[in-house]
Amino acid sequence: MSFKVAIVGATGNVGREMLNILEERGFPVSEVVALASRRSQGTEVSFGDRTLKVRTLDQYDFSDTDICIMSAGGNVSKEWSPKIGKQGCVVIDNSSAFRYDQDVPLIVPEVNPDAISLFTRKNIIANPNCSTAQLVVALKPLHDFATIKRVVVATYQSVSGAGKEGMDELFTQTRAVFVADSVDVKKFTKRIAFNVIPHIDVFLDDGFTKEEWKMVAETKKMLDPKIKLTATCVRVPVFIGHSEAVNIEFEKPITADEAREILREAPGCQVIDKREDGGYITPLESAGEDATFISRIREDSTIDNGLSMWIVSDNLRKGAALNAVQIAELLVERGLIQPKKKAA
Ligand SMILES: NC(=O)c1ccc[n+]([C@@H]2O[C@H](COP(=O)([O-])OP(=O)(O)OC[C@H]3O[C@@H](n4cnc5c(N)ncnc54)[C@H](OP(=O)(O)O)[C@@H]3O)[C@@H](O)[C@H]2O)c1
Repeated sequence: MSFKVAIVGATGNVGREMLNILEERGFPVSEVVALASRRSQGTEVSFGDRTLKVRTLDQYDFSDTDICIMSAGGNVSKEWSPKIGKQGCVVIDNSSAFRYDQDVPLIVPEVNPDAISLFTRKNIIANPNCSTAQLVVALKPLHDFATIKRVVVATYQSVSGAGKEGMDELFTQTRAVFVADSVDVKKFTKRIAFNVIPHIDVFLDDGFTKEEWKMVAETKKMLDPKIKLTATCVRVPVFIGHSEAVNIEFEKPITADEAREILREAPGCQVIDKREDGGYITPLESAGEDATFISRIREDSTIDNGLSMWIVSDNLRKGAALNAVQIAELLVERGLIQPKKKAA
């Protein structure tokens, strides 16, 4: 059994990673179609040792495509995902357009796989925000053990989270600083090279940003609506890999040793936690890896049942493309999707 899969946004950071991961994991494809905007028509992207010619989204007919992985931003998704879903093609959407829709499941396969069955309502499944995906992978097994009451998180998010333009801006600004050229600010609100910016996405009335709000809303939707969470999201001059300093308050006692043992066994998690120089993970080392890495696990004596830790993952993989491909695998494993075209 194999499936015709379309990738919308195939020329982007996430779309390219999507093609790599579909190939690496041997997802059963009969055909892969690379789609983007008219700007990219005819350009080429790689899928394993094959080269795919990019086609335009608005001239493509989805009626014989089984799965569409959307990775072209919220506006494109709002316009196209419902139309594609109505053609009987299951959409796995990377944008925030449908994440908070109660008729659309928001899925991290290690956390809430059973919620996927809801997808038939709109034929759309949402992929979470990159910072939330890695956070809930680590929180879920700890919540099962000791019930989380409250989470305080500060993020250190790489520029690839802002798309290929974000990566280009860090590169050109860094070069400009070294050659004493003028530094242009286009994509971010302030200079990102040799700086950090405590602002991701738009400001809301309460002073939080939309990125911070997303972490709250998505953690509640996927893990437990009773969990209280407060976030400060910060952009840092790192190309790939989001990091998070996390403080967690539990209802029941849990020691650092217990947390370490639980996380060692938990799906998608890898513990790297030696209390010595270099005995922890940094975002540079997470790039290209699938795991959510957890380091610096320690008890917080300022509250009852408190732990602090450092959580790092490749935002283009677990934060986006890998999670989307895992969702596609879940559809197949559970027999929730059948290919439209039978193999000859
Ligand atoms: N980067 C992350 O860590 C991350 C994590 C989670 C979710 N996401 C989400 O994933 C999506 C893509 O992010 P990205 O980082 O890959 O962005 P990106 O590098 O800027 O790529 C954007 C992609 O969308 C395509 N596109 C733009 N407008 C289009 C249109 N009108 N029709 C068809 N295709 C269009 C672009 O095609 P052209 O080349 O033709 O312009 C490009 O392929 C966003 O929704 C983002 O929020 C990203």
